[in-house]
Amino acid sequence: MIHAVVGAQYGDEGKGKMVDYFAVQADMVIRYQGGGNAGHTIVNEHGKFALHLVPSGIFNPNTVCVVGTGVVVHPMNLVKELKSLQDGGIDTGNLVISNRAHIVLPLHIWQDQYEEASRSKKVGTTLQGIGPAYQDKAGRFGLQIGEMKDLEHFRSRLLSTYEAKLKRMPGIREFGGSFDDMWNELTAAREVLLPYIQDTLPLIRQAVEAGKHVLLEGQLGVMRDLDWGVYPFVTSSSPISGGTSAGAGIPPTAIKRVTGITKAYTTAVGEGPFPTKLEDEMGKFLQEHGHEYGATTGRPRATGWLDIPTLRYGAWLNGYTELAMMKLDVLSGLSEVSICTHYDLNGQSYDLPLPAYELEQAQPVYETLAGWTEDISGCRKFDDLPEAAKEFVQKIEELVGVPIRYISVGPERNQTISRE
Ligand code: IMP
Repeated sequence: MIHAVVGAQYGDEGKGKMVDYFAVQADMVIRYQGGGNAGHTIVNEHGKFALHLVPSGIFNPNTVCVVGTGVVVHPMNLVKELKSLQDGGIDTGNLVISNRAHIVLPLHIWQDQYEEASRSKKVGTTLQGIGPAYQDKAGRFGLQIGEMKDLEHFRSRLLSTYEAKLKRMPGIREFGGSFDDMWNELTAAREVLLPYIQDTLPLIRQAVEAGKHVLLEGQLGVMRDLDWGVYPFVTSSSPISGGTSAGAGIPPTAIKRVTGITKAYTTAVGEGPFPTKLEDEMGKFLQEHGHEYGATTGRPRATGWLDIPTLRYGAWLNGYTELAMMKLDVLSGLSEVSICTHYDLNGQSYDLPLPAYELEQAQPVYETLAGWTEDISGCRKFDDLPEAAKEFVQKIEELVGVPIRYISVGPERNQTISRE
């Protein structure tokens, strides 16, 4: 069974928790795009961990965890992440890194800073060098991580990349450092990472052909997809389920299950349109009750009501076979809850897609439902939920046309209602 787990909103939906939940039965977990800009918070019997690059299956020693070809890897940060896992008692021997994954160089981080500083309208990137690394990949300047194996080859490629980049973009010097510092950092990281780097395609192909349970772990969500998101306020890769095929190396016809992850409300970090954003007391309530601060940057996340057009749009683009709704417990204590059913733009009713500059003007149209006051964090069955919470879930299923198969009522793995 090939099973993709993708973000149904703007990222930070709680994919890490669900991948960790599904990974208990998975033979392999593959990250297929993005890089260390991801921040998956996982709470399980081993403790609390913030994963950035390592797939969320790492806690299960029998699950092979693949950093796939479509990912961009910052070697020094990956080394730090491995160390923090090892310090927490986690064996990372089940990790493999695709030799074709591209390297995020310090140069790319300098460039990210330079580019954000020079934009009149910021993208609000994580400043992790993600966009510049993908630019270089598409521009055929990039370095694949497998190229680190041959030290002499690596040094000559790195040196020419460094010189060419500074020539093309002298402005990055202001944010940058020396070649020697970069070389020293990279060669130290190389020592740690070499044993993990291999051609991952034979491994993946074998698993797929043997009918193993393979999980494809997306980063971010449909609204930050390079092609379909709120361009230009997007990331530089394809988080949608179609991105799994290129990024992991799996035929599209093999993907049989797609779980879209959504919160019971909406959050976003970074710039760009967010029609249901609340800048009032309710927004603060969601931020505080939901602990809405970025796992990678610590930036407070903007919060707002659930946006149904986003879920419907993602249902088409991703082909959700089911949804998982996270953080339903955060809405407890409200007498009423709202959902945005569509948008109004100049007196006309709209759904997605809309270009970002139009979405910025769109007004959300809400439907208000009854809230509930009970603490639901101990509920383990759908029928344990208060009537109003059940009606909230059912209303969304009806509006989106996709079953909500999982409902999360707290951060722990077992705080999950399964309706399988
Ligand atoms: P970049 O991927 O760092 O270039 O950032 C592009 C956009 O994606 C910005 O709006 C970021 O805030 C957003 N973004 C990147 N990574 C994450 C994440 O892990 N969670 C939420 N938003 C993210």
